[in-house]
Amino acid sequence: MDQIPTHVTPRVEPTRGFGSLTSELGLLYGCDYNPEQWSREVWVEDVALMRAAGVNLVTVGVFSWALLEPQPGEFDMDWLGDVLDLLHAGGIAVDLATPSASPPAWMGVRWPETRAVTADGVRLSHGSRNHFCPSSSVYRERSLAIAGALVDRFASHPAVRMWHIGNEFGQVCHCDQCGAAFQTWLRARYGTLDELNRAWGTTFWSQCYFDWTEIIPPRAAPYLVNPTQTLDFRRFTSDQLLAMYTEQRDLVRTGSSGACVTTNFMGFHHLNDYWRWASEVDVIADDTYGDPADSDSPVRQALAHDLMRGLAGGAPWLLMEQAVSAVPWRGHNLPKTPGQTRLDSLRAIARGADGSCFFQWRQSAFGSERFHSALVPHAGPDTRLHRTVRAHGAELRRLDRVVGARVAARVALVFDWSSWWAAEEPAGPSTRLRVMDQMIAYYRPLWRAGIAVDIVSPGGDLAGYDLVVAPQLFLVDDPDARNLRGVVERGGVLVLGPFSGVADADAHIRLGRFPVQFADLVGGSGEEYCPLPDAGLRVRSAELGDFTATVWGERLRLDDGEAVATFTGDLDGSPAVLRRRAASGGEAWYVGTVPPQSVLDAIMGRAAASAGVVGTLGPGPLPDDVEAVQRGDVLFLLNAADEERVVALPGVHRDLLTAVRYNGAVLLGPQDAVALVAETA
Ligand code: GLA
Ligand code: ZN
Repeated sequence: MDQIPTHVTPRVEPTRGFGSLTSELGLLYGCDYNPEQWSREVWVEDVALMRAAGVNLVTVGVFSWALLEPQPGEFDMDWLGDVLDLLHAGGIAVDLATPSASPPAWMGVRWPETRAVTADGVRLSHGSRNHFCPSSSVYRERSLAIAGALVDRFASHPAVRMWHIGNEFGQVCHCDQCGAAFQTWLRARYGTLDELNRAWGTTFWSQCYFDWTEIIPPRAAPYLVNPTQTLDFRRFTSDQLLAMYTEQRDLVRTGSSGACVTTNFMGFHHLNDYWRWASEVDVIADDTYGDPADSDSPVRQALAHDLMRGLAGGAPWLLMEQAVSAVPWRGHNLPKTPGQTRLDSLRAIARGADGSCFFQWRQSAFGSERFHSALVPHAGPDTRLHRTVRAHGAELRRLDRVVGARVAARVALVFDWSSWWAAEEPAGPSTRLRVMDQMIAYYRPLWRAGIAVDIVSPGGDLAGYDLVVAPQLFLVDDPDARNLRGVVERGGVLVLGPFSGVADADAHIRLGRFPVQFADLVGGSGEEYCPLPDAGLRVRSAELGDFTATVWGERLRLDDGEAVATFTGDLDGSPAVLRRRAASGGEAWYVGTVPPQSVLDAIMGRAAASAGVVGTLGPGPLPDDVEAVQRGDVLFLLNAADEERVVALPGVHRDLLTAVRYNGAVLLGPQDAVALVAETA
């Protein structure tokens, strides 16, 4: 919290990286390993099986706190030392975790204030995990103490090559300690109470504050809570977790020489502004749990992976967790097929990951995750699942040439956490317009066309992008608006989705015809948000074909742009889609509605064509369900369909995975993938 001013989204700097590890070990392949659930005989078998499976990195100790410190200040680390010795003897590198995600029962019993409190005032109990209050000084000190003890004991252990701080930071607590920390954060953000009162608009409903101590986290209240208070509490919560992370990271960095330090992100996770976290980790690491029953799983995973590459500033990142099959938090688990397991892992590698890891190594026999799939299932290694794991470990070795290689993208998709939070505060015009739905809808046609996309923050460096798309950027501050406008001013193409440019950084609505900061750019402007009836509303378009828009409309007027599509009915004559070509040669689009996906595909196709952007394999469409990504000199083609697909590809290519050569076309089996390098004729 101290190191980043509260109002700034730091520029994404390339992470320090884990290149020394991957240059030695090649692509990382591994998993969480929880040896404390097993006997020593099993540990020995585990290491042998890991070696056979090609595992070269395991994350150890994530949930080991109670065993490492059975009583406050009494450490028992010998067993972990034995585990590290065994792993090292087996040639397996260790990502050693600090165990702060799950404090022991003794802590919550002795110091109840270490347990988080919900918005309803309920203090959470131990007996699960993640029950801590991130502002509790006792909890923070004890977390540092156990982390320090681990560093003292193991920082120089040759197995330890990476540090994993906590796990999946994502807690929210409404207790009085968090309230006090929130007040401190607000003082740093606003300086004076006058400024806070202005930003929060506290003249509304008599909410004015006359003393900092009157300010509380949003808690159970009779009716709607101040939206800027809620927005700031979300910003604070992310920063508070980040402060917890950085204090442990700094301790680890001081005590260890050079090992990289990270924690595991959770994709588009609602509780953390990862733009503010990105430069604080040495390697961007992510947990992505593709759902085999969801036909959208490939596109969702791809989007999350492209976010990780964006957070890494283009540098390689690490898929820290995925499931090889079932997870306990889905109601009904279709097993992953071997093809899906392989595709999900290769998708991450294709999109810039230098490693593919799973949760977890051996399937637990007890505890809440005993039905969570693992690399060694209950039935043991003589299983289809484990054979898949081994085969995949072997094939990853054939992909080592992609280590460090980049994915070059000329398209940026803009995403911002504050904007997401503010857009979905209660009491907007419609709860049906959802930011993530819009993100997927605008990303999908690019993904289908095999066009590489980086996910960027609105303040990020947009210089290298010819097409910049902001699917639903509700909140845009002035510098970010200038940044986005710059795309068009230098001849690029900007596409803005509905309900964009609505609010400022305080979530105050910008006054005037919307989108206020962009109306001149898109050649039209609006005056009323008009969520649509369930039946939708017909839209006429000579260019796109007539269609029925759903969910969302806006009463827009044409100024000096073009109406690419125009509403009928209640919004008769109002443009639904605006476009304006600028003198620079650049172009701006504003889509003031939710068109059917096929129409949005056409819009994005036109915008890409204007920007001169084509897919990895050229302008033509890819076969359905086929994904194409160029990473360095390797072309990945992934086929998620249950049927064969043929992809036309001029020239001779060799598949690194199978050594098969293709001339002019590639035959992809059902749920199959190739990693091709061009052969000189
Ligand atoms: C998360 C956690 C793991 C495990 C898995 C289960 O990713 O980090 O500890 O609980 O979920 O899917
Ligand atoms: Zn708290």
